[in-house]
Amino acid sequence: MDLKQLIRERRSVHRFQDREVPAELIMELLDTAVWAPNHRLTQPWRFIISCGDGRKAIAEACRTMNERWEWDPQKKQATGEKYYKKIMSNPMIVTIVMKENPYLQVREEDYASTAIVIHNLSLLAWEQGIGMVWETYPWLNEQVFREAVGIQPGERAVGNLHVGYPAGIPHAAPRIPASERITLIDR
Ligand SMILES: Cc1cc2nc3c(=O)[nH]c(=O)nc-3n(C[C@H](O)[C@H](O)[C@H](O)COP(=O)(O)O)c2cc1C
Repeated sequence: MDLKQLIRERRSVHRFQDREVPAELIMELLDTAVWAPNHRLTQPWRFIISCGDGRKAIAEACRTMNERWEWDPQKKQATGEKYYKKIMSNPMIVTIVMKENPYLQVREEDYASTAIVIHNLSLLAWEQGIGMVWETYPWLNEQVFREAVGIQPGERAVGNLHVGYPAGIPHAAPRIPASERITLIDR
């Protein structure tokens, strides 16, 4: 696919077909995605791929957190169940983990590079007919979730990517043309 078209047509996908995404394919795409610009070549990322029954640990953590946050005691169980099912409706979840450098500047540079890796992956996957959405739900760095996937002290979850073959592609939200945001200084 033409790069310009790929960048413009990629969408965040929220609903997926009930069809497995081969883990090997995502691993292969990640191997290209990591060719991101990265100051000092810190390569602070690692990736946790959860699929099949492997998704249950994340779904259970999500259930626990949503039960905890549901203020109505009568709704706790149903709310937990709803969110458990929501997680299980994603054929694959890729947790993006970043080592947190103690120096703010390096940490910010590392976050920027990690975001580039995510977008690289998202474009490469789109080219293969695979969709995803970068999720940053409120429980992303809660201990329950961290333990569920083995995130270590000194590491931070940057996002969970919900990955699958799209069941529908959302309409694009319009973008403000860059021309409206450009200041040209040429003399
Ligand atoms: C850092 C980051 C965090 C995001 N977190 C969420 C999220 O928690 N839930 C969600 O539905 N979408 C999330 N998104 C996806 C955006 O909502 C999406 O990119 C935006 O609506 C534009 O749609 P598009 O990606 O289809 O162009 C996130 C995107 C980024 C870059």
